[in-house]
Amino acid sequence: MAELNDDQRKELIEAAVNVRRWAYAPYSHYNVGAAVLTASGRIYDGVNVENAAYPNGICAERVAVFKAISQGERQLIAVAVVTENGGSPCGACRQVLSEFAQDMLVLLADSEGRLLGETHLSELLPCAFGPQDLGSSSSGAEPEH
Ligand code: THU
Repeated sequence: MAELNDDQRKELIEAAVNVRRWAYAPYSHYNVGAAVLTASGRIYDGVNVENAAYPNGICAERVAVFKAISQGERQLIAVAVVTENGGSPCGACRQVLSEFAQDMLVLLADSEGRLLGETHLSELLPCAFGPQDLGSSSSGAEPEH
């Protein structure tokens, strides 16, 4: 099970706090910043990006994950989510996170970076459907060259 030391946690939360300023949420006004730590030790951040055609918007967590994956990462260790009130990842984001994590630490913080909640993805999404259900071992695999 993924655990982080205090410096790593602080750095991850800070990344999510700092990127949150770029959230594009003119409809909900609920700004979200997210940062994922990968097995390579890198941090990828993301914000929610809404759209006038509402269903086309996307959550901050998925933006961060897709940025990481599109840079060749395949293994997620932890995620920090920063909102005004410590909101927890939505169901769709939980599923996307679980594709690339054995289990991962989930840190929930407010806009000042205060830790309001801490859990693991297996608690947020027990019995997750994953690559193993399709007989695939793609999760954690190296990118194809
Ligand atoms: N949102 C996220 O970015 N992450 C979540 O896990 C929950 C919701 C965003 C989507 C939308 O832009 C706004 O918050 C309100 O739902």
